[in-house]
Amino acid sequence: MTVTTVTTAVTGAVGTAHTRLEGRDKVTGAARYAGEIPYAELAHGWLVVSTIARGRIRSVESAPVLDMPGVLAVLHHGNAPRVNGDYAGMLGRPDPIVAPFQHDRVPYAGWPVALVVAETSEQAREAAEALVVRYDEEPHDVAFSAGHPGTYTPENSPHMQAETEKGDLEAELAASAAVVDAEYTTPEEHHSPLEPHAAMARWDNGRLEVVDSNQGSMWVADELAKLFSLDPASVRVRSEHVGGAFGSKGVRPHQVCAVMATTVLHRPVRVVLTRRQMFSLVGYRSPTAQRVRLGADADGRLRAFDHQAHCLTSTVHEFVEPSAGVGRVMYDAAAHHTVNRVVPLDVPTPTFMRAPGEAPGSFAVESALDELAEKCGMDPIALRTLNEPDAGPVSGLPFSSRNLLACFQEGARRFGWADRDPRPGLHREGRWLLGTGTAAASFPSGAAPSTAAVTAEADGTFTVRITAADVGTGARTALTQIAADALEVAPERVRMRIADSDFGPAMVAGGSMGTRSWAWAVMAAVSELRERLSLGGGIPPEGITARSNTAEAVGALPSRERHAFGAQFAEVAVDVTTGEVRVRRMLGIFAAGRIVNPLTARSQLVGGMIWGLSMALHEEAFRDKASGGHVGADFAGYHFAANADVPLIEADWVDDPDDDDPVGIKGIGEIGIVGVAAAIANAVWHATGVRHRHLPIRPDRVL
Ligand code: MOS
Repeated sequence: MTVTTVTTAVTGAVGTAHTRLEGRDKVTGAARYAGEIPYAELAHGWLVVSTIARGRIRSVESAPVLDMPGVLAVLHHGNAPRVNGDYAGMLGRPDPIVAPFQHDRVPYAGWPVALVVAETSEQAREAAEALVVRYDEEPHDVAFSAGHPGTYTPENSPHMQAETEKGDLEAELAASAAVVDAEYTTPEEHHSPLEPHAAMARWDNGRLEVVDSNQGSMWVADELAKLFSLDPASVRVRSEHVGGAFGSKGVRPHQVCAVMATTVLHRPVRVVLTRRQMFSLVGYRSPTAQRVRLGADADGRLRAFDHQAHCLTSTVHEFVEPSAGVGRVMYDAAAHHTVNRVVPLDVPTPTFMRAPGEAPGSFAVESALDELAEKCGMDPIALRTLNEPDAGPVSGLPFSSRNLLACFQEGARRFGWADRDPRPGLHREGRWLLGTGTAAASFPSGAAPSTAAVTAEADGTFTVRITAADVGTGARTALTQIAADALEVAPERVRMRIADSDFGPAMVAGGSMGTRSWAWAVMAAVSELRERLSLGGGIPPEGITARSNTAEAVGALPSRERHAFGAQFAEVAVDVTTGEVRVRRMLGIFAAGRIVNPLTARSQLVGGMIWGLSMALHEEAFRDKASGGHVGADFAGYHFAANADVPLIEADWVDDPDDDDPVGIKGIGEIGIVGVAAAIANAVWHATGVRHRHLPIRPDRVL
């Protein structure tokens, strides 16, 4: 039989570098994205969003626009199909943004008020820009601050406990020899994936077909079925290639509008968002205001740890940026308090954005640790080493593995930390003051139930089907390596098919959980297939297929604190006469379990680190208090790191075995960004002697 003859073939794909399977298609333009696949009879939808930040729609003046060339329809709250926005989805009750045109209320600037559909996208755009919408405007409030009177401590959010508390904080602070009490802020930040959100929807023989750019086709299919009260089996969503997502590509108005329009017009409809629309329609990272209080003995041992984090949400839905979560994992103290508070404002609902919570939270905590090290006269790595907890500071659970110190040791060696003079403001090179800084990183390592199917084909190849999403990470390639090793065949004999909701339920590309969850399902299906093949007999023309569902196995994992860890290092040069900060080099060493593909893993970690650099020095969305909308909601006005800002960046990892996990993968999607902003801010302090507690560290703040 075919398979028994190949079990001794090439193995060991996991752990070796493989270029992306679809890389050639992507760079030659052969790979088609959701916004560019041609369809016969395709109509184009263009969204119109509110220009006021609070109030009611008085009228949508459709008539003149319907007379414009090519215009087919104008959907709005007066005529759009009704949907059911009150259901329980993957993240609980959905953000009302996914149920547009259901009422006349406007909760923020940039809320969808109409969809113009036309023969061409240019005609749709022209008509959308000509559409007059009249409003009854009401006063709005978009001013975020920790002291806002509307601030509340949420009920425990689906993804995060709101508050944790042990010990007597004030007593421990009073008894501390060294105390840090500081406030840190981070601004509103946006995902800005290169590929804007786009979806085509059409009805095909009673089935709804959606071609999309998303982080989980099963997720989107399931929510569309609920919104439109359809049998889930009658909805198919595919998302072959995705040009970046980072938390913004779930269920969003563009898919829903495309489905509404195709239902009304009986022809395929595509809706593509503009860059400007993405600033209000696809979520973003909330600004944060965080107070950190640390108290320690003279030798640096923590007695008190207090992290109070504030974020905002909209008035129509609650999303909490859980910045205070990071201290629940990183540092213990006799008195330990963490809380996430939230301020509802007339702004769009924020959402998950790369390392939600850990990215801004680590900026505050890891900066405060550096301030404490200074106060105690200690090396920042020595301070962290002294305060390594034996178990989860809040949960009390053992760590499945915690190799943070190995990251610091390897990082310090490679970065040349031992040669560092800890005193700030002493190192000058021409007009530049030089400094180095470090910070710790952590990110949870989760897994979620997934299903997969593996087929042994009659020609000796194998086909894997799983509703995974490759959002640019290289997941398709990594899963091929996983499957090849499990099958004990060369990767060339494995065909990986992903991102089609017809393949069944699977984890989304999110929470750094995708590859771990999918690999588990693929390995389980292969194991089942190999058992069937071991019974002997030939392979019929349709092949032999085995399926897996990891729900039980994932549920049976023992309770542990499971996280990836890392140590970030940065060297900066600061020109105090211009305020310019240049990052000269960065090094990140990570303990992130089994690394499947060193090539794409390094790329993903470096990508996260570049984003951290961008967060430290550039990114900041400005909201105008008068209009309630954004100023500069585009790539000219929203600054992020460009090539010239990015120096030599190295990412590497230490051995990080995790014994009780059959997969051994921890996930690397998010940890790369964690701690970077603190490492850079700490380096700026080392260069100049000045602490920067507000991001981004703009030239005007350095001066
Ligand atoms: Mo992410 S922020 O888990 O897509």
